Amino acid sequence: MEEMDDFTVRDDGLPEDITGAAGPIGPIGPPEEHALDPEAFAEDDEPQLRPGSLDEFVGQEALKQNLRIFVEAAKQRGEPLDHVLFAGPPGLGKTSLCRILAGEMGVNLHTTSGPSLERAGDMAAILTNLEEGDFLFIDEIHRLNRQIEEVLYPAMEDYAMDIVLGQGPSARTIRMDLERFTLVGATTRTGLMTKPLLDRFGVTETLDYYRPQDLQKIVVRAARILDIPITDDGASQLAKRSRGTPRVANRLLKRVRDYAQVVGEGHIDEETANAALEMQGVDVLGLDRADRNYLGLVIEKFDGGPVGVGTISVALGEARDTVEDVYEPYLLQSGLIQRTSRGRIATHRAYDHLGVPSPNSR
Ligand SMILES: Nc1ncnc2c1ncn2[C@@H]1O[C@H](COP(=O)(O)OP(=O)(O)OP(=O)(O)O)[C@@H](O)[C@H]1O
Ligand SMILES: [Mg+2]
Repeated sequence: MEEMDDFTVRDDGLPEDITGAAGPIGPIGPPEEHALDPEAFAEDDEPQLRPGSLDEFVGQEALKQNLRIFVEAAKQRGEPLDHVLFAGPPGLGKTSLCRILAGEMGVNLHTTSGPSLERAGDMAAILTNLEEGDFLFIDEIHRLNRQIEEVLYPAMEDYAMDIVLGQGPSARTIRMDLERFTLVGATTRTGLMTKPLLDRFGVTETLDYYRPQDLQKIVVRAARILDIPITDDGASQLAKRSRGTPRVANRLLKRVRDYAQVVGEGHIDEETANAALEMQGVDVLGLDRADRNYLGLVIEKFDGGPVGVGTISVALGEARDTVEDVYEPYLLQSGLIQRTSRGRIATHRAYDHLGVPSPNSR
């Protein structure tokens, strides 16, 4: 279950809708584009930049080691791979890993996503089309509805589907066998998944934000593929400011490439990288304007917190999900905010970063 952390409304008596009272720094109106939202740019993922094998997939060493063993063992036994769940923030490589695994197993990959499936019948149709060993990839699996989940339980456990024939007293259930397949799920929010579904995955792997040295390798690899010369220092700057996320690194690389081409001398060094990132509003910690807005709001409007995420999303004019999925994971991971039972708190580091004197009480 998700932690309950949205008590601010009750605690300080603020009405739920504080839009009219957000004051000078509450950016009212259309939410500012989150330049670094990895999800917002999913569609401009360059297919050529996608790693094609586990060896090309940079970083996440422990996870890759596990996957190599599972793949090898399943192949030796001549069995389908056990159901796999990839969890972690957007843009870290869940979809890429699924494709790589299907490739290594030499099987067909069928792709769908939680929000796109509406009726149990949609799921049944997909399942009956699977062949032995096939992969079924369900993106955003935490957004499946209950009826569809219930079709998945026996499918995952027994490779079977229960079908109700007829109606009323004469109705009866028959069990239909399915081919042995592998379900690969991807989720940014395991907290929203039900336990019965979670329990049916044999393998659950969580992807973490990448270390700067790994991101640097990703940048260097992408620059080679995109045919843009880059120095180590240039790549290092990009890596440090990509909020631990390969998709962001690739995206920033392309923006810096534009800059280098037009304003610079056609190659990326530290100076060009810094100037281009500056222009994008990406600061030394990899925060963009929207992130700084979030921190500014918590610090200036709510005295550094604690403030509930519901209140923050209203003040920012953003959906609560966006605040939790896009803004907060990286701010938490960078130690700029803390999540407490009473709400979000800005840390010393956040005050320092914004250049606001930090109150002694913190
Ligand atoms: N380990 C890696 N090495 C090299 N490139 C990577 C790696 N992981 C991700 N990428 C790059 O980042 C892009 C985004 O990765 P991917 O689409 O797999 O992320 P995701 O976790 O599925 O994101 P979402 O949750 O938004 O679906 C890929 O197209 C690829 O270019
Ligand atoms: Mg994906």
